[in-house]
Amino acid sequence: GITRHYDFNVQMANVTRLCATKSMVTVNGECPGPELVAREGDRVVVRVTNNVAHNLTLHWHGVRQVRTGWADGPAYITQCPIQTGQSYVYNFTVDGQRGTLWWHAHISWLRATVYGAIVILPKLGVPYPFPAPHKEVPVVFGEWWTADTEAVISQAMQTGGGPNVSDAFTINGLPGPLYNCSAQDTFKLKVKPGKTYMLRLINAALNDELFFSIANHTLTVVEVDAVYVKQFTVDTLVISPGQTTNVLLAAKPYYPGANFHMSAAPYSTARPGTFANTTVAGILEYENPSSPSTASFVKSLPLLKPSLPQLNDTDFVTNYTTKLRSLASAQYPVAVPRSVDRRFFFTVGLGTLPCPANTTCQGPNGTQMAAAMNNVSFVLPSRALLQSHFTGLSRGVYASDFPVVPLSPFNYTGTPPNNTHVATGTKLLVLPFNTSVELVMQDTSILGAESHPLHLHGFNFFVVGQGFGNYDPVNDPAKFNLVDPVERNTVGVPAGGWVAIRFLADNPGVWFMHCHLEVHTTWGLRMAWLVLDGSLPNQKLLPPPSDLPKC
Ligand code: C2O
Repeated sequence: GITRHYDFNVQMANVTRLCATKSMVTVNGECPGPELVAREGDRVVVRVTNNVAHNLTLHWHGVRQVRTGWADGPAYITQCPIQTGQSYVYNFTVDGQRGTLWWHAHISWLRATVYGAIVILPKLGVPYPFPAPHKEVPVVFGEWWTADTEAVISQAMQTGGGPNVSDAFTINGLPGPLYNCSAQDTFKLKVKPGKTYMLRLINAALNDELFFSIANHTLTVVEVDAVYVKQFTVDTLVISPGQTTNVLLAAKPYYPGANFHMSAAPYSTARPGTFANTTVAGILEYENPSSPSTASFVKSLPLLKPSLPQLNDTDFVTNYTTKLRSLASAQYPVAVPRSVDRRFFFTVGLGTLPCPANTTCQGPNGTQMAAAMNNVSFVLPSRALLQSHFTGLSRGVYASDFPVVPLSPFNYTGTPPNNTHVATGTKLLVLPFNTSVELVMQDTSILGAESHPLHLHGFNFFVVGQGFGNYDPVNDPAKFNLVDPVERNTVGVPAGGWVAIRFLADNPGVWFMHCHLEVHTTWGLRMAWLVLDGSLPNQKLLPPPSDLPKC
């Protein structure tokens, strides 16, 4: 592979959307930021310079970072933030991976405006396992706040309640014609009749899973989270924050000059009916036909809009996600661990904390909103975990006693417990090198059944099973798919249900795992794994780069 250099200047820029201008944090003045392109096997070197008044880190979401946890990026997990006026060089290889991933800020809520696509092309001469598309186009979904998002979340944390909702969803930064004052800010995908396009879909929204559809067209899913899948064709797909999906779109030979809406709107079971129930639209725009008479005919056609599922259509989501299967071919075999060394059961869900003195909290019954895994609401330390681990100075920074079972088991489909309070702590779960892990994550449904897109840093995992109600450790494992389970880095724990994943802990370091709904992460729905070095030299975490920021 070769080395690809990028300069990311983090700077303020004035951006106008929905008829309001705000000064916001961007990379190189753009939102979405620059597209990072590499080929499988390449080294990527990104010099990030912080020219804003916020502490900053960037994360390369889905890049495995084998032995290079120093370049992973979550603040206070693998590194201290890059402070104003300072730079840090993220240096990593993209080995054994090809497809669509993305990068984003990984501190506070800065990722609202600091994000962009990562395109990893296959090695030279290695074709896609499908006919090469005519063109490839990143389609990045985002969420737009007219207010400053740092103010939105800090105000919510001070009052202990939920943050204000966003004002629009966006496609490649543009809200589109269904929002006030946004018709000129519409993403347009221009296509030639008869050609096939590959859309690299990325959900960079902060707090919403999304449905996506294009009127009068189908989408053929070929890859998720930079792993090829068995192809299948749908009218509508669903994509959670953190996830990526490559789809093939065949432009019809018979639509020259026509326009169609492509739309995305949220999937959510836990929000009030009207919450953020709005739609971002872009336009699929066919090149004009050669004959002027056909042109005037198609121009007179009404602009067709796709119909998207209901806000809370969990059946649709289940039906879609269970279609996702690994290729499991000779060239792309499935590396799902067959035997398991350690089995874990984590509950994931919302909860509460007692309201701090002299505060009026907006959570249920005057409590402070929180979220937890196995009842522990994770507190970020003030020194980075990976540095503390590497230097042996972990005392007082973290504990290695993350509970491997819920503290107080109950019926996750029944009445919530009287006491919804969770504990707080900075607790890691330690795994020896090469431990083969099975993890069942169960939605607690304590403050309402809700799907949580859980993201694991440092690994891909295999989704071997999912179901509704309480996980049954006796009967459910018999139904696990070990033949062609989908491999990914972010999976939805179904609302009112559970998901089972497997992964091999073959990457030493400290690896964050969290809900990719930013509000839940902020409330503590996060934990970290500490994977120890193996005994061989190539099984050890590499030493930190000399410019690693200090806290
Ligand atoms: Cu895309 Cu820890 O996140």
